[in-house]
Amino acid sequence: MPVEHNQPLKKLNTFGMDVSARFLARIRNQEELSGLLASSIYRDNHHLVLGGGSNILFTGDFDGLVIHMDARGMEVVGETSHQVFLKVQAGEPWDPLVAFCVDRGWGGLENLSLIPGQAGSSPVQNIGAYGAELKDCFHSLEALEKDNGKMREFSREECQFKYRDSYFKQEGRDRFIIMSVTFCLNKAAGPNTRYGNLDEELESMGCRRPGIAHVREAVCRIRRRKLPDPQLLGNAGSFFKNPVVGHGTYSKLKERFPGMVAYPGAGQVKLAAGWLIEQAGWKGVRQGEAGVHSEQALVLVNHGNASGAGILQLAREIMQSVEHKYGIRLEPEVLIV
Ligand code: FAD
Ligand code: EPU
Repeated sequence: MPVEHNQPLKKLNTFGMDVSARFLARIRNQEELSGLLASSIYRDNHHLVLGGGSNILFTGDFDGLVIHMDARGMEVVGETSHQVFLKVQAGEPWDPLVAFCVDRGWGGLENLSLIPGQAGSSPVQNIGAYGAELKDCFHSLEALEKDNGKMREFSREECQFKYRDSYFKQEGRDRFIIMSVTFCLNKAAGPNTRYGNLDEELESMGCRRPGIAHVREAVCRIRRRKLPDPQLLGNAGSFFKNPVVGHGTYSKLKERFPGMVAYPGAGQVKLAAGWLIEQAGWKGVRQGEAGVHSEQALVLVNHGNASGAGILQLAREIMQSVEHKYGIRLEPEVLIV
């Protein structure tokens, strides 16, 4: 299994950071991965598992081994009268997978349309959008444990999914390489249009009785309007998570800032970080080549040749300013390397 030296990573991260990896291995199957884990290059270097690079900010060259997941393939591994179990290899790109399922009338992933990245990374932060989360149609995954090279299966409960969080960002962090994910899809799915402006979008499309293909189309339309296309403007989606606070904190903030956008839930309230950042004056701000997107203040962008350090400096200033104004500490969603 070939390992390449001094490889550029610009095309392997959606921020478009012009950095390189000391070693890069493209892994197509379990045998290749096992071979790599037994090699001295693996033993002698620190390493990073890289999918589509759409949730990562590189702040410099990576002086170690990047393990890029490139395993492809999908297989129906079970079926009932109303469910399909689809096993997907880690390197399959996410949005074509969603399109594949929608085309066959298998519902569950359509609200997660157009999210960049790979299937294998989707459980890491339990990707979510437009009223759905990965956990809603996740069945299980297979991951290789780095310490002993053994494959292990994880159920939904074992993955400990939460908002933008899972076991693989907590106790399981850096210990496993996800090789495949099995989804449980619904053959007779009713559309999920709970999320605010999804209904409006469907109405503007003249769609009165939406199916899952319409939901996919509506989600794509909204996303294309709001979120920058990484091919045109480097970014990693939301740079920060939406902060979650208790009802007491929320009530006090709401008194001081009546216009604040928030989503009350059971015992906790999720605040719209985009609103906090915009109201703190950051929307559309540019510091050299690093900037805050003009349509979505939660998205930091690379206007061309920004460095990771430049994006990070901007992120830190935003965090300080939000903390100063609201007493809320923003937490990055993006992995900073
Ligand atoms: P990477 O960025 O390559 O990696 C992310 C993390 O997962 C890293 O810690 C990496 O080490 C780890 N990892 C990757 N592959 C594996 C593996 N096989 N095994 C173990 N660990 C692994 N996210 C959302 O949740 N909702 C959105 O709506 C959304 N919209 C976005 C819009 C844009 C324009 C962009 C650029 C990003 C958006 N994101 C969104 C963030 C991102 O697309 C997701 O987090 C996606 O799942 C990351 O996948 P990736 O393959 O690019 O992962
Ligand atoms: N808002 C502003 N100003 C802004 C941006 C947002 O005031 O510049 C307010 C608006 O009131 C808006 C509200 O914030 O109604 C929420 O904004 P939006 O619907 O765009 O969603 P978000 O909370 O900013 C989250 C996810 C996105 C996901 C969308 C849609 C997080 C951190 N982000 O964004 O996920 O696509 O909801 O469900 O939870 C990602 O994780 O990378 C990502 C893009």
